[in-house]
This record gives sequence, C-alpha cells and structure tokens, in this order.
Amino acid sequence: MSESLLIAEGTKAEKYETLLVQIEGVVSGESDEIANMANVSSMIHETFGFWWTGFYRVLDGELVLGPFQGPLACTRIKKGRGVCGTAWQEAKTQVVPDVELFPGHIACSSASKSEIVVPLIKGGEVVAVLDIDSAELDTFDEEDKVNLEKVASMLVKAWR
Ligand code: SME
Repeated sequence: MSESLLIAEGTKAEKYETLLVQIEGVVSGESDEIANMANVSSMIHETFGFWWTGFYRVLDGELVLGPFQGPLACTRIKKGRGVCGTAWQEAKTQVVPDVELFPGHIACSSASKSEIVVPLIKGGEVVAVLDIDSAELDTFDEEDKVNLEKVASMLVKAWR
C-alpha cells in the first residue's frame, strides 16, 4: 500500500470522497468480513484520527468486539444497552454529540466525548455495528452519518 493511500488533509467531504473509493477497492475483492472490518477500521481511523474506530458483531444474541483501532474496549454489549446496543435494537444510526447525555452510555474510556454508531444490516437483520468514538464533543453530523452508512453498505455487500 502506498503512503498516499490515505489523505490526512482536505475538507471532511474530500476525505470521505477518497475514503469511499479506497474502501470500495479494498472490500470488493474480499469476502472475509473480519479482513474487511480490520482494513476499514484502520482506513477510517487513519484518515480522521478518531479516538476509537471499530466493529462489534452480533454473535449468539450479543454484540461481541470485532476488529478495531484504538485502546482496549468492552468485549460484549447486550441488545438495547449503550449506544451500540441501541443502534442494534433500533437498526438505526445513532449520532451522539455528548456521550454523557446519552442514557445508558457505556464508557469504555473516559476520553470518549462523542460517538456515532452505524448498524450493518443484511437481509433486514443487524449483523454488526460500526462504532466510532471521538475525544472531542460534537464531532459527528449528518455528513458522517450519510458517508458511514455508505461504508456499512459496502461491507454488507461483501458479507458472506
Ligand atoms: N460507548 C459504547 C461502547 C463501546 S466503546 O465506545 C468502544 C456504547 O455506549 O455502546
């Protein structure tokens, strides 16, 4: 992979534009979802410098920690619990400007201030969630939601 693969400069729109092309290239030729989640967590994390970027998979009725970038995280989350469990239960993206104001937020790290969680939905079922934490308040908006939902769709297309 060349050093120019990920861009650290430009507007958020420009970064997402490049990122989406690169993610499509990486996941379209690979059917293993762990490999794809690993690369995607790295690509998002390196592009934006978030605090924590990773996945939880739905396994035996719980969310179980998958590939991620960043510090140690909680391994299992129940349906309806925290931001991740809510995204799973509602099958809807959760944008949280201030995690302290989200009822039941699970604090894996006190450094996390805002968060976005995007469900990966295959055949009407949530199969995983993409979770991103920022060390700053109010990091995520509609632009992140729209673009990260595109990332989720790309992953689902390649999902076995
Ligand atoms: N904050 C999440 C838990 C996962 S960590 O942020 C990595 C939640 O409330 O579901």
